[in-house]
Amino acid sequence: MAFISLNLTHTTNFIEPAEFDAIEPQVQAAAAVLEHRSGPGNEFLGWLDLPVNYDQAEFARILEAAQRIREQSTVLVVIGIGGSYLGAKAALEFCQPTAALPKSADPGSVDICFAGTNLSAPYLNQLLAGLKGRDFSVNVISKSGTTTEPAIAFRLLKKLLEEKYGKAGARSRIFATTDRAKGALKTLAGREGYETFVVPDDVGGRFSVLTAVGLLPLAAAGIAVDQLMRGAADARANFQQTAFAQNTVLQYVAARNILHRKGKAIEMLINYEPRLHYLAEWWKQLYGESEGKDGKGIFPASADFTTDLHSLGQYIQDGRRHLFETLLEIQNPESDIVLEAEADDLDGLNYLAGKTLDYVNKKAAEGTLEAHVAGGVPNLKITIPEANPYYLGQLFYFFEKACAVSGYLLGVNPFDQPGVEAYKKNMFRLLGKK
Ligand code: PA5
Repeated sequence: MAFISLNLTHTTNFIEPAEFDAIEPQVQAAAAVLEHRSGPGNEFLGWLDLPVNYDQAEFARILEAAQRIREQSTVLVVIGIGGSYLGAKAALEFCQPTAALPKSADPGSVDICFAGTNLSAPYLNQLLAGLKGRDFSVNVISKSGTTTEPAIAFRLLKKLLEEKYGKAGARSRIFATTDRAKGALKTLAGREGYETFVVPDDVGGRFSVLTAVGLLPLAAAGIAVDQLMRGAADARANFQQTAFAQNTVLQYVAARNILHRKGKAIEMLINYEPRLHYLAEWWKQLYGESEGKDGKGIFPASADFTTDLHSLGQYIQDGRRHLFETLLEIQNPESDIVLEAEADDLDGLNYLAGKTLDYVNKKAAEGTLEAHVAGGVPNLKITIPEANPYYLGQLFYFFEKACAVSGYLLGVNPFDQPGVEAYKKNMFRLLGKK
């Protein structure tokens, strides 16, 4: 069984072996706090065992609901924000073609689109107009059931569904994922008779991708959610059993925290494959909300290469030296292109004839990494053997566990987000909410 792997070769100019020795007991202590469930926020550790200890009956219901969605709709609108959105979006982009042309309505194929991720009227108007001619279902996701963005989007989409299919028809097309017992969405779902799925009490939004929050939209899109769970379960076992020197989670935690303590305030997650863009968005939310508090934390940023080498590349190479990069590499792409010679070679590309485009992409990555390291930017590299649900499950679990251990090492509660309330308070005051 293959695993995602971590390569720290390109940090050796920046980290002495003795620094790893020095931080090891601290990382081990932080990991032990997590394993013994003795740290702050320990009421939110349900995600730790989710891959092997999930509600099987609910999992079966998710697959049935996904099948019904596929039979009755060509579009599923997923409504949610933050942790109730980014995991599914990241997984869809990772597992499905990113450059595909809009789908024809193949029988049984479902386009997933998102709402409730912003407060833009033009965005919602465009979506509502586009849905008039399509058969659609809605999966509204909110753990608290009270978040403004998804609540507004749901009001509008529910109205459209009821106009289109009548109250009973709309009811069979609405799936609510929320708290087991409380919150406005739970109350509404109970009153209207929607099928509901649970965000477990002990799983916070940004750790919820392996619950119904991620699984229902993914299953509706036809993604093998059993493989996703299997990847996460194998990663969980691997990280539990492996000693510090070979433990991908603990090594990642150690390296990023040593660099942080030496003045590297920003970690940039770098990719060379468009399918990884939203994985970085998911990662930024996970690490930003978990670590950024009490005046502490590594700032999580990201860039899509080679695109951003033509914009941010200048700063990374030459700007303030407060960055390190974590490169995500997909070892074997699912397809490739062999470059051919042309008779006149006016573009001067004939020197690449016979090479593949993935070879060129990997050489671009290698050259960039060398340049950035020489320019004072340490690079960590994570290799994903292939872009499939199994390795994505490993990756989700890897980043979640490393985030929790890193948060404890930093001395924060990785499972709360008190900072997100400040803007809401002001917004509600300005809106005149009682
Ligand atoms: O990670 C988190 O807790 C947040 O990002 C939430 O997921 C986000 O605010 C949405 O919350 P809710 O699911 O309650 O609507």
